Amino acid sequence: MFTVSVCSLKGGVGKTSVTLGLASAALHQGVNMLVIDLDPQGDSTLGLLGEPGASPDVADVIASPRTETVDRAIRPTPWSASASSHLDVLPGSHRSSMVDSPAPAAKELRRLREALGRRTYEYDLVLIDCPPSLNGLTQMALAASHRSLVVSEPGFFAVTAADRALKLTREMREDGLAPDLEPLGIVVNRYRPRSVEHQYRLAELRDLFGDLVLSPVIEERVGLQQAQGGAVPLHEYEGASGPRLTADFDALLQTVLAARPQG
Ligand SMILES: Nc1ncnc2c1ncn2[C@@H]1O[C@H](COP(=O)(O)OP(=O)(O)O)[C@@H](O)[C@H]1O
Ligand SMILES: [Mg+2]
Repeated sequence: MFTVSVCSLKGGVGKTSVTLGLASAALHQGVNMLVIDLDPQGDSTLGLLGEPGASPDVADVIASPRTETVDRAIRPTPWSASASSHLDVLPGSHRSSMVDSPAPAAKELRRLREALGRRTYEYDLVLIDCPPSLNGLTQMALAASHRSLVVSEPGFFAVTAADRALKLTREMREDGLAPDLEPLGIVVNRYRPRSVEHQYRLAELRDLFGDLVLSPVIEERVGLQQAQGGAVPLHEYEGASGPRLTADFDALLQTVLAARPQG
């Protein structure tokens, strides 16, 4: 099983959008996937279920990492109702903020990792949609992950924010808190190709982070918001920008899966 944390220092950059776009691509490509919603705001839960989650959710799993709790908390999404592969969600809610702390103990950080080790079903890919900070919950996600996927907008603060997230990835590995963790890379989101500022910022990110800046870059498109508003997978969205969006997320999923550790 391959687990990836989708994280960033700040909110509104597109972590949930990237998670949901990749989930839609996974369904389309027959990849069995689990989304873990670790953001207390519960956006990916709402996006995938069309309604807020119910107890038990990820907060219960963290409080009590037992097989029974994990298996009960994970549920199928309506997105996968008529699909050949599984798309499940481990829902999140404001309750997970109660277990967030800026400096968690090593024992707490291992809780999600322990819980995932105890679930019954094997997925091809697990994506953890993280809260907009690098605090305890995100560290808990990283401790359970093989790779970190940093989402960034092509803006003035992007370099520092991406740098902090990548630094945390390295530190957690070096401290032994996330023994399997390596950076997968940076997804640049909400890119406007005609904006000179965006071109400049993208070039700057590529200069500094090289191959860690992943391809494809995801452009800003209203279709993405419309699909989210309807709680439907991008691949079912019929607006004009649908084909470009699905092509981008299909390619991004391939980039993510290519980073799976061998063996
Ligand atoms: N590529 C994009 N094109 C258009 N709108 C986007 C794009 N990515 C994100 N958004 C919008 O930006 C807002 C914040 O995105 P979201 O995924 O919720 O960020 P985060 O999870 O990092 O807080 C949402 O309203 C989302 O629909
Ligand atoms: Mg979000």
